[in-house]
Amino acid sequence: MSDTLTLGVDSAMGREVMAHIDLLAACSESPDCLIRTYLSDQHARANALVLDWMRAAGMECQVDPVGNVRGRYEGRRPGLPALILGSHLDTVRDAGKYDGMLGVVTAIACVKALTEAGERLGFAIEVVGFGDEEGVRFQSTLLGSRALAGNFDMSLLDKRDGQGISMAQALHDFGLDPARIPEAAKQPDEVHAYVELHIEQGPVLEAENLPLGAVTSIAGATRLQVVITGTSGHAGTVPMAGRKDALAAAAEAITAVETVCSGAAELVGTVGRLEVAPGAVNVIPGEARFSVDIRAAEDARRRHAVQTVIGAIEEICARRGLALKLERTHESPSCPCAPWLIEQISRAVAAEGIAVRRLPSGAGHDAMAMAGLTDVGMLFVRCAGGISHNPAEAITAEDAASGARALLRFIRDFDSAARRAGGSRAMKADPA
Ligand code: GLV
Ligand code: MN
Ligand code: MN
Repeated sequence: MSDTLTLGVDSAMGREVMAHIDLLAACSESPDCLIRTYLSDQHARANALVLDWMRAAGMECQVDPVGNVRGRYEGRRPGLPALILGSHLDTVRDAGKYDGMLGVVTAIACVKALTEAGERLGFAIEVVGFGDEEGVRFQSTLLGSRALAGNFDMSLLDKRDGQGISMAQALHDFGLDPARIPEAAKQPDEVHAYVELHIEQGPVLEAENLPLGAVTSIAGATRLQVVITGTSGHAGTVPMAGRKDALAAAAEAITAVETVCSGAAELVGTVGRLEVAPGAVNVIPGEARFSVDIRAAEDARRRHAVQTVIGAIEEICARRGLALKLERTHESPSCPCAPWLIEQISRAVAAEGIAVRRLPSGAGHDAMAMAGLTDVGMLFVRCAGGISHNPAEAITAEDAASGARALLRFIRDFDSAARRAGGSRAMKADPA
């Protein structure tokens, strides 16, 4: 293919990626901002769009029992182990439109390019739009990728959302049978690797004027749900000395999270959600519920910070005479990307004439859950100002095209690269 023709195809891919992102961004539960939670009507709308695009790209596709949308492009013969590509279709509240979605639509664009060129490879490609990565609805993250990796905790089906609807009920309402979730799992010998393209969500690539980067590892994370219970009372009559103010204790606890997590490099801590009851201007808060999210590249550093924060919250509640309930809602160790995939992603980036930058991810990704099934790799695309989880999240069409081009090159070179690296786990199981 001539360079001019390649350029034309690539910018068409970039344009299609950006157009699909805009169509997904229109699937929102709010007219005022982007929010699309797991198993919502808007999740169903997004799945329907993605199914259409997968079909148009030449894939067989379906929604799996946990609500992931999955497409398959067979290799030179049917039934070969797959390279899995993808990311998530759910969003945070008041989200940007690229987090997650970019990885899904770019992977589909790459498969479409293969279909149009009539290329079949020595492996199948599966593209997944995971139903839940952010954990907004049920406070439990990576549900889609855990199911595919065969690591879904069925006790989560009893978890309830903010409206009191259980996950099991929400799955039924979505037209799915929760008992069939184990069927969403892949076996290790059916898969060569999982590779996720994602926006960086940080400032490194932009600062270094680079459109793409190869991810080395994903930071580990711990999440806590904290409930502090005091005594509500009249704001005008209860003397300050006798109060059991749950919110004042929570305020101290939040400051403790900030202090503890400001003490070391590559350690971050956030309280992102706080609810106060009864929540009236003239009532002393009787209950405060809040989330804590602590992450670090090094697991020992994170574990130490978590223990220090828990100790601080216990001390605050004991000193103030308040009851404390603390639940660990999420625990993910840091996740290294496979060296052979880092190398191969780096080669694809370099072949695009882009200096190779390897960098860790502070954000969590579906790749963390997929690492339980297979080797994982990630390709980052620069985002404006490093801003993410924010409606100002932005990338350029040129960077979208660079990402698509590098991912397509990675796919085309994948088979020989895997064999050079000593074979994926599936190849080792069946060297033929
Ligand atoms: C997902 O976006 C996370 O890192 O929390
Ligand atoms: Mn996110
Ligand atoms: Mn994401």
